[in-house]
Amino acid sequence: MPIIKILPHAEYCPQGAELSAPAGTSICEALLEHHINIEHACEMSCACTTCHVIVREGFESLAPSEEDEDDLLDQAWGLQPN
Ligand code: FES
Repeated sequence: MPIIKILPHAEYCPQGAELSAPAGTSICEALLEHHINIEHACEMSCACTTCHVIVREGFESLAPSEEDEDDLLDQAWGLQPN
């Protein structure tokens, strides 16, 4: 089962965390299931980008983004290539 390491974030996860999630689970779903309550304004219907995260390691293990996702991310605040 994939392991997701969450770096400390003052608002969402001050101590950091390490969690496992079944393959195919979105990072947003995994965080919410472990009570790390990141914003998700459209309830994960891919319409808002408030749930976007920065992946520091393991980016290559993720499915490639789709064109609609890239178009939405172009409007996201604090966007980084990863
Ligand atoms: S909650 Fe993820 S795109 Fe809106």
